[in-house]
Amino acid sequence: MQVSTERLFDHARTHHAWQNRPVDDDTLHRLYDLMKWGPTSANCCPARILFVKSAEAKARLLPCLMEGNRAQTAAAPVTAIIGMDMAFYDQLPRLFPHNPDARNWFAGQPEVIQTTALRNSSLQGGYFIVAARALGLDCGPMSGFDAAAVDAAFWAGTTVRTNFLCNLGYGDPAGLHPRGPRLAFDEACRIV
Ligand SMILES: Cc1cc2nc3c(=O)[nH]c(=O)nc-3n(C[C@H](O)[C@H](O)[C@H](O)COP(=O)(O)O)c2cc1C
Repeated sequence: MQVSTERLFDHARTHHAWQNRPVDDDTLHRLYDLMKWGPTSANCCPARILFVKSAEAKARLLPCLMEGNRAQTAAAPVTAIIGMDMAFYDQLPRLFPHNPDARNWFAGQPEVIQTTALRNSSLQGGYFIVAARALGLDCGPMSGFDAAAVDAAFWAGTTVRTNFLCNLGYGDPAGLHPRGPRLAFDEACRIV
């Protein structure tokens, strides 16, 4: 499949309004099977994703959101909770087999665990957005929510904590406002 840079970046917008068009489970599987190949440190792959799709699960999620995020989330066919497994290092013997010592780089070191889980699950969240766009989906990432409430409602009894949320579906272009500018190369970058 050929995917253009226009689809991934130039023309891709953050959506807040959604067409009444479902996203099938097969597409969600394809999305994960693309994003999983994005690199993480020591191949630690800390991201865990809960696709909130049923009316029952949506009803549990909505009260955890900032008011301004509720209507867009209620209208989206799927909301992904991008979590991070704080016990990600337990998978390293399988995910990073060429260094049997890798688990010990993290175990018992909460600051290293936190930094590594956040950095790499955020990267994986970026891969998630680009993979979704490659499959023709639109995204609406959100950080406006009560993380403790989402954790209690969806990750209770696990070692996973919420990083961010992302509405998924087919956006309604009528809901878009003019796009915000970006910093120019010279403002954001230097070549030294
Ligand atoms: C991590 C993250 C958190 C965001 N949180 C929210 C949010 O809570 N509510 C919201 O309406 N938009 C949220 N946004 C949307 C951004 O404002 C939007 O992606 C940005 O302005 C770029 O818009 P564009 O993709 O249309 O150019 C978030 C985006 C990201 C990446």
